[in-house]
Amino acid sequence: SQFHVFVIFLSSSSSFHSASFSLQEKQVTGYLLFSLATAVIGSLQFGYNTGVINAPEEKLKSFFNITWVERYGKYIDPGVCTIVWSVTVSIFSVGGMVGSFSVGVMANRFGRRRSMILVNSLSVIGGLLMGFCTICSSYEMVIAGRLVIGLFCGLFTGLTPMYVGEVSPTPLRGAFGTLHQLGVVVGILIAQVFGLEALLGSEKMWPLLLALTVAPAVLQCILLPFCPESPRFLLINLQQEEQARKVLVRLRGTEDVSKDLQEMKEESAKMAMEKKVTIAELFRTAAYRQPLLIAIMLQLSQQLSGINAVFYYSTGIFASAGVKQPIYATIGAGIVNTVFTVVSLFLVEKAGRRTLHLLGLGGMAVSALLMTVSLLLQDNIPAMSYVAILAVMLFVAMFELGPGPIPWFIVAELFSQGPRPAAMALAGCCNWTANFLVGMSFPTLQWCGPLVFLIFAGLLVIFFIFTFIKVPETRGKTFDEIARGFGGAPPPPSSSTEDPPASASTAVTLPASPVKE
Ligand code: GLC
Repeated sequence: SQFHVFVIFLSSSSSFHSASFSLQEKQVTGYLLFSLATAVIGSLQFGYNTGVINAPEEKLKSFFNITWVERYGKYIDPGVCTIVWSVTVSIFSVGGMVGSFSVGVMANRFGRRRSMILVNSLSVIGGLLMGFCTICSSYEMVIAGRLVIGLFCGLFTGLTPMYVGEVSPTPLRGAFGTLHQLGVVVGILIAQVFGLEALLGSEKMWPLLLALTVAPAVLQCILLPFCPESPRFLLINLQQEEQARKVLVRLRGTEDVSKDLQEMKEESAKMAMEKKVTIAELFRTAAYRQPLLIAIMLQLSQQLSGINAVFYYSTGIFASAGVKQPIYATIGAGIVNTVFTVVSLFLVEKAGRRTLHLLGLGGMAVSALLMTVSLLLQDNIPAMSYVAILAVMLFVAMFELGPGPIPWFIVAELFSQGPRPAAMALAGCCNWTANFLVGMSFPTLQWCGPLVFLIFAGLLVIFFIFTFIKVPETRGKTFDEIARGFGGAPPPPSSSTEDPPASASTAVTLPASPVKE
């Protein structure tokens, strides 16, 4: 049924866009929507596993205790219990770091589609480990399961945006790119709702709550064989032009796919010079430096905005703002989160990536200030607790306008086929590392009380300035046009360590090619 929701949603989004693009440009078929919906089941799992661990905290801790008593005949030391709990939460991001770093190797070796099928086995293993932990009386199985699921999620935060970016028609690449984040936020929301005591968050049911991620994994494995391999991978990596053409004809619903093919062939010709780009070469090659810096900074802006401080600890934040049943406020934040991702989906091809990202970062900075001030004043002015709740909601809404969805898909846009997998691996790994750091340090940082959000406000201002100065608009441009904006065709390997031509340093001045509307 989650799948159906996506299909219905996607259809409505396409009809929105059909108004803005002429028929020839529309290029949206049922087959394309089906392939996109199948790919974002991976994103859904990432979101689900991000959100699922919040609700059953107390139940898990008491499970640790029971196991301890069974094994050692005594209660677990509260300090040890906290450590086991922290490891259970954060090992997920460690898995994510490793997984995201491996995405380049997988995607080049097995292709995009086969990688997604293979990687789902990790979700099944992780889900089963967690689901059977109580039966086996082993808290180690929860920890191992979270690690494996983290690996899975790390791989999918690269695989989904890469696949989506490569099958989407250029004029809709941003809107469809946002679907990854939409999958994530819907996953978080499902986890929040299922985590309610009355549903799967109960004493008996929580292992099932954790294991439920196996269901979308199996569904995705059933559907993926009906999806095409990325035509870019077929043509540029495997030189299978006829196969690529067939896939494009089905995806675009027209026999005339010469424009797409031509564009890929040009990229392919350059690929022959570029060969496979490793992560080390990304750093060494001058032409990649600008886009790499931008990709990494955008990932950092997403995580160091403090969004997960809100998502991991929202219940506590709402409780300190005086909310009686904070769990419902948390679900409210999840709903705002989802609604504004949809808003971004509709805006991103109109307003552009750069504008939305700036708007989001600026709005988040203002909300963070508002949150600090209202939490500080609420002892004297009771009405301030409403302002605090409003500020949290605004913070989340502004996040989803730009900093949530854009960093995930813009990396695929900033690089051509050759360096794309390596760049996505590196950018993804930076994202997960920052995610880990915020998750680990926020509880400690909380000793400074509401002032903690001032740190995030400061960081947000820095990222705003960076985006303003450095980030170009990529809307409506082909991958090749974007790469050229960063200093022409990537140099052949022999000249890769030399400095870029003068034009490469002016990254902000991409050739202007307005989107036709
Ligand atoms: C993004 C972030 C993720 C966060 C989510 C919240 O996908 O990568 O860490 O939890 O947005 O919506």
